[in-house]
Amino acid sequence: MPNTSDLQILFATPEIRPLIKTGGLADISASLPAALRKLGVDVRVLVPGYPAVMEGALNIQSLYWFGDFFGFDEVHLLSAILPGTDIPLLIIEAPQYYTRGGGPYQDPKKLDWPDNALRFALLSRMAAYLVSSASPLEFRPKLLHCNDWQTGLAPAYLHFATEPQVPTVLTIHNLAFQGIFPPPVVAEVGLPPQSFAIEGVEYYGNLSFLKAGLYYATHITTVSPNYAEEIQREPLGFGMQGLLKQRAADLTGIVNGIDNDEWNPAADPHIARNYGSGNLDEKAANKAALQKMLGLAVDPAIPLLGAVSRISYQKGLDMLLEIVPTLLEEPVQLVILGTGEALLEQSFTRLVQSHPGKVAAYIGFDEKLSHLVEAGIDMFLMPSRFEPCGLNQMYSQRYGTPPIVHATGGLVDTVIDTTPETLLDKSASGFLFGENTAAGLLDAIRRALGCYRNPNTWRQIQLAGMNRDFSWDASATRYLELYRSLLAEKD
Ligand code: ADP
Ligand code: GLC
Repeated sequence: MPNTSDLQILFATPEIRPLIKTGGLADISASLPAALRKLGVDVRVLVPGYPAVMEGALNIQSLYWFGDFFGFDEVHLLSAILPGTDIPLLIIEAPQYYTRGGGPYQDPKKLDWPDNALRFALLSRMAAYLVSSASPLEFRPKLLHCNDWQTGLAPAYLHFATEPQVPTVLTIHNLAFQGIFPPPVVAEVGLPPQSFAIEGVEYYGNLSFLKAGLYYATHITTVSPNYAEEIQREPLGFGMQGLLKQRAADLTGIVNGIDNDEWNPAADPHIARNYGSGNLDEKAANKAALQKMLGLAVDPAIPLLGAVSRISYQKGLDMLLEIVPTLLEEPVQLVILGTGEALLEQSFTRLVQSHPGKVAAYIGFDEKLSHLVEAGIDMFLMPSRFEPCGLNQMYSQRYGTPPIVHATGGLVDTVIDTTPETLLDKSASGFLFGENTAAGLLDAIRRALGCYRNPNTWRQIQLAGMNRDFSWDASATRYLELYRSLLAEKD
């Protein structure tokens, strides 16, 4: 193991499980720092002090009080520990920005908070400050690792500071969210007027936090090699393809890992019966428990398909809605656990009413139930239009639940399609479809149902997925190598 104890890294993120989560970024913000700490890196995580963070973080202690932090008014910096881990947290307590109901980005009516620019400028500003020589802390990070648009201004603040700056890495978890605000916000967040230029933070006449990060970060990563390629051209570059292509030499795709302790069917406390590749028959008890719990007909033979997902355009669940009537002509059941766009949520609820016993939908966010769904269903559906990495397809394979996925982004890097060749060499672990349409999805489901009818084939596909290594070991080492090379370049 390399000697890394000298390496201090600040990891800035807008969400972290188990405290605050809207999607996979929360999982990664806990599991990557944990893996890096195992490699001997002193990584600490900077998060906003939302109510859930203030209530759930352990051993909260005061570090520093600012009477007026760069125009953001009173701010209190705290230290704490992330529950269930040894990960040190740095928390920005600023009730004027973070103490409110609703989610991290939206109010209870699902409208973006009107002051999101300031809320995440504060996160970015604090990240930049804590890696500068002005920081009052003993903790002296040598590098700043930012995540998504909410932290995108940090590299810009550092660029316009007068002192030499530490290297910065910006990880793109999702290019669809760009943090775009009108021009007056440039001054409100304390950026100099000259930053508002094409060679800067300006993006089609507005300020984009993400573009700021993409432009000023020393290095850019994204969460799978395939997505790193896709975002350098249309349509998945979402307008940033030119800049990303220009920065291709500083852009690396590193596939996400998963937390093998959290997602382990052999020891998962949230499922009805534990199982592994040696006693896969026990998985059936989870299917029965899920069917019973959700009011589906309890039947071990009927294929149970499911999804756990944000309900949004990205995830392509509208395509699933389109094919459900045809799909339900066959003996199958369907379960959806998700929350998001109101109209789609309502369509799923109506589907349950018109197909009682065959379709179940739990509209909401329920982490425990997501484990039982992974364990209880037979096939996992992920018809994502785009998917930077995706985590559920990996959780599914580990749970012996072959995923059916659109061939995009990280799904291509993490699922091995079932073909005559991959069945022969026993690598097949799921089903990929290239055509991004409802018909393409239906076709892939039918292929999967065909294999399901042959128990030996199905078992082989399940076991191939369960035996794959999705742990952080390889990818955390890649991040460490990247940090080291950026630090070496600087010296
Ligand atoms: P994204 O970050 O784009 O939403 P990922 O696949 O990377 O997609 O991660 C999604 C994470 O959020 C997974 O851990 C998934 O289990 C979880 N998740 C999504 N929706 C729900 C829900 N309604 N209830 C519980 N967990 C959910
Ligand atoms: C984003 C992406 C998802 C990825 C996750 C964690 O939310 O949509 O594909 O797995 O971030 O990196």
